[in-house]
Amino acid sequence: MKLIDPCNRHLNYLRISITDRCNLKCLYCVPRDQIARLSHKDILTYEEILRLVKIGVKLGITKLRVTGGEPLVRKGVYGFLSELSRIDGLADLSLTTNGVSLKDNLTRIKSAGIKRINISLDTLKRNKFHKITGLDLFDQVWRGIEMARDMGFHPIKLNIVALNGINDDELKDMARLSFDNPFYIRFIEYMPIGDSQMGNGPLLLAPEIKKRISELGQLIPVRNSINDGPAQRYRFAGARGEVGFIHALSHHFCDRCNRLRLTASGKLRPCLLSDHHEDIKGPLREGRTDDELAEIFFKAVRHKPSDHNLAAGNPLRVCGQMHAIGG
Ligand code: GTP
Ligand code: 5AD
Repeated sequence: MKLIDPCNRHLNYLRISITDRCNLKCLYCVPRDQIARLSHKDILTYEEILRLVKIGVKLGITKLRVTGGEPLVRKGVYGFLSELSRIDGLADLSLTTNGVSLKDNLTRIKSAGIKRINISLDTLKRNKFHKITGLDLFDQVWRGIEMARDMGFHPIKLNIVALNGINDDELKDMARLSFDNPFYIRFIEYMPIGDSQMGNGPLLLAPEIKKRISELGQLIPVRNSINDGPAQRYRFAGARGEVGFIHALSHHFCDRCNRLRLTASGKLRPCLLSDHHEDIKGPLREGRTDDELAEIFFKAVRHKPSDHNLAAGNPLRVCGQMHAIGG
């Protein structure tokens, strides 16, 4: 039995948020006010996550992404990644990180069996990085990215949340990085969910970004492959890398959504942009069997919305916070 939802979408991509904690406070992700953190006993242990992943794999999960908060701040993460990479049946295992801890831990990440990484990088300017994230760590993150490239991690996807008045002056510089580097530069439309420190100003959407970076040359579409996430991919002629757009607002990609999320607090969320969730931690800790836990996966999948209503000028009331869902 596979995880097929009422719209006949086959869910084979599980995103696991292993912590709600993060060492950065990005404007678009973390609320202005102090946020309550999950306590140790409220988050799934690594053993619990591994058990759930093995159940998921039996139900057809082949792609796994580890997220946070910032996943690399959780103690024991490298051993956990090694355990994950030993699970039979996974075709793709990757990590989304803010890059702060990369520089000193790439060897451990590589030894753990991770071959590719997605890294948040919203600016190429040190001062602006400080302003967006709250910490003056641009050089450290950039060094980590260069080292990851030199160690052969591929692809390295750089996630840029496009923000009017903040990094819209750098779109072409970012896209240009793909000329000489094998990086996949991904422009992401800001999704106004939960509380963040962003105001309600006009949003910078993919068509406008595309128009601006097209001044650098023709964008040649790259065909999506089986394990691709939501990005629409392009390449400039002769470039080593790619550029991509993740346009949840201007052009929904719900019809091809193949994602399910497991949060650190043990909830299965069938849609990033809906608060619907199924608790799986409670039943797990009550000693339910694998078959009973599999039934909770099916229940979550049955509740996957066909579509979301998030649109520019029509913000959704999603109470979940991005930092706790993992993007
Ligand atoms: P790849 O598998 O490498 O393509 O990764 P990915 O794009 O699936 O993952 P990543 O963690 O790098 O996320 C990039 C952006 O896509 C983030 O802003 C996520 O919030 C967004 N994203 C991922 N999945 C979904 C989704 O199901 N719906 C929406 N609206 N956005 C998503
Ligand atoms: N809108 C769009 N993307 C976001 N991310 C975090 N918050 C938002 C948001 N509100 C991105 C981060 C990270 C990825 C997992 O999600 O940049 O790269």
